[in-house]
Amino acid sequence: MCGIVGYIGARNVKDVVVGGLAKLEYRGYDSAGIAVIDEGNIQVVKSVGRLANLEDKLASMEISGQAAIGHTRWATHGKPSDENAHPHQDCSGRFAIVHNGIVENYLSLREELIAAGHQFNSETDTEVVAHLIEELYNGDLFQTMIEVGKRIRGAYALVVLAKDHPDEIIAMRKASPMIIGLGENENFVASDIPAILEYTRDIYVMEDGEMAVLTTAGVECFTMDGEPVHKEVYKVTWDAVSAERGGYPHFMLKEIHEQPRAVRDTLRGRIAEDFSRVQLDELKLDDAFMKAVDRIHIIACGTSWHAGLVGKAVIESYARIPVDVEIASEYRYRRPLFTPNTLVIVISQSGETADTLAALREVKRQGRRVLAITNVVGSSAEREADDVIITWAGPEIAVASTKAYTTQLIALYLLGIKMAHVRGEIGDDKVRELLKGLEDLPQATEQVLDTAPQLERFAQRYVDTMDTFFIGRSLDYSVAMEGALKLKEISYIHAEAYAAGELKHGTLALITEGVPVIALATQPDLYEKTVSNIVEVKARGAFVLGMTWIGNEDLEKTVDEVIYLPKTLPELAPILAVIPLQLLAYYAAVARGNDVDKPRNLAKSVTVE
Ligand code: AGP
Repeated sequence: MCGIVGYIGARNVKDVVVGGLAKLEYRGYDSAGIAVIDEGNIQVVKSVGRLANLEDKLASMEISGQAAIGHTRWATHGKPSDENAHPHQDCSGRFAIVHNGIVENYLSLREELIAAGHQFNSETDTEVVAHLIEELYNGDLFQTMIEVGKRIRGAYALVVLAKDHPDEIIAMRKASPMIIGLGENENFVASDIPAILEYTRDIYVMEDGEMAVLTTAGVECFTMDGEPVHKEVYKVTWDAVSAERGGYPHFMLKEIHEQPRAVRDTLRGRIAEDFSRVQLDELKLDDAFMKAVDRIHIIACGTSWHAGLVGKAVIESYARIPVDVEIASEYRYRRPLFTPNTLVIVISQSGETADTLAALREVKRQGRRVLAITNVVGSSAEREADDVIITWAGPEIAVASTKAYTTQLIALYLLGIKMAHVRGEIGDDKVRELLKGLEDLPQATEQVLDTAPQLERFAQRYVDTMDTFFIGRSLDYSVAMEGALKLKEISYIHAEAYAAGELKHGTLALITEGVPVIALATQPDLYEKTVSNIVEVKARGAFVLGMTWIGNEDLEKTVDEVIYLPKTLPELAPILAVIPLQLLAYYAAVARGNDVDKPRNLAKSVTVE
């Protein structure tokens, strides 16, 4: 989730573009760069790290021109570095491009272009596009971009500058967000509204499969086949601050609503088109190793540890490998026992959590192989692990982790299915059924977001409660733990999660008249058992908010209120079930007037032990 900006007009093009990038830095801050076209010369300046590094470089440079494009990067392919920073160019330097998204077929295109004599300067997927433009260029930039659109697969918001076409900027959109800002004798293109709000409130929202040609005179829009498209002007009413949050009152709510996109992006390119197998091409560990693995240690903290609990259930039930889920701060001081082929998996959104890194380094010191599941390319976990699965959730700003959790589950499902398939524990039909189930999740998560008003009402009703209990069995218990943590960390309401069957062994003593209990009942095999535990807390006067799948009205007989989730495979239900719990915590924190994005006593990345 990078930030891109483009401008053509009479203002200082450098200032407009760099100023726009500053407004988009929440989208990524691994590196930044701009390209300016002046009298047919393209000048590119870029720098690793925060935008400020680029601004330092530019401060001593005289740069002006008719048009410019810029980029602030959230690394996906290739570590944060000057070489991997955008804009990228072709061999001749005649074209410069910035890109937000993922070119799925970049490896095969790269091989083809290298065979055709192109030389690459970076590890990125994006640079492939610059060379492809050069390869296909026929003097007509517009037609060339149409041909390029036919050759690249994946998600992209792409903006191009061309030496021989100094009076135009071409932009293309597929899956990644893009808006066009409309001005008088000037026009803008950007990933998001904050970048251009200072200059105009009139925008076009680019749809999937559309492209635009920007000149000072105007903006023409087309389909990817070159057919003209009429666009409605949308008037932006937001102020600059809420614009950064995409119009949401808090980053946490924005990130909860980004989960359909985050899940889709984390699945992107990792499921074979015929659903026949998982494609984790980034993994170096081979099938032989996967077959030999005889134990797995999952190490993490907080929400990532909760994701590990779901990972354990999935990997054990599919791949039949014993999995231990370990709290990092405990693990490293305990002399862990390894079997000959123990695989260690560390999970960390930030990739910088000190406890998790210390455990990673201790495991490496003992010669063990480590796979990291992280959301940050270039983070210590990404750099120090032997293998890495990146969750493409994009930057997570709010301290309370939401979209990182759901994308960590996606990574664990993909890994579990792949290991089970390679080990012959599950057959092709089961693989197909599971992968189709995963592919349907983004849409199902969209649907779950519609439960927000119900959760908001519930949260307001219980704004003064001091204790809340979350119960569930098996996968539901793991998700209940995440729900309890979310509520605790931002609403400051004491909350605990319990295995539903465990309550009667003590905790039931805490259940009194009116105490809110959130009961997850998403697992058909355990439904009746869970209902009997709900009856136990109801008998002591609890107010029970139940959660189950659409169509299971039976639960209404036992609980006070029901949250219905779209039907999915029971083993995939955690991805849907956690969202209402995130919303409950969010609305409880708002109702209590707390600083939702920066809760007291907490930090986004805990870099001290
Ligand atoms: C979760 O909402 C918290 N921010 C916290 O528990 C977090 O999950 C934990 O600190 C681990 O962070 P990591 O995933 O970046 O390693």
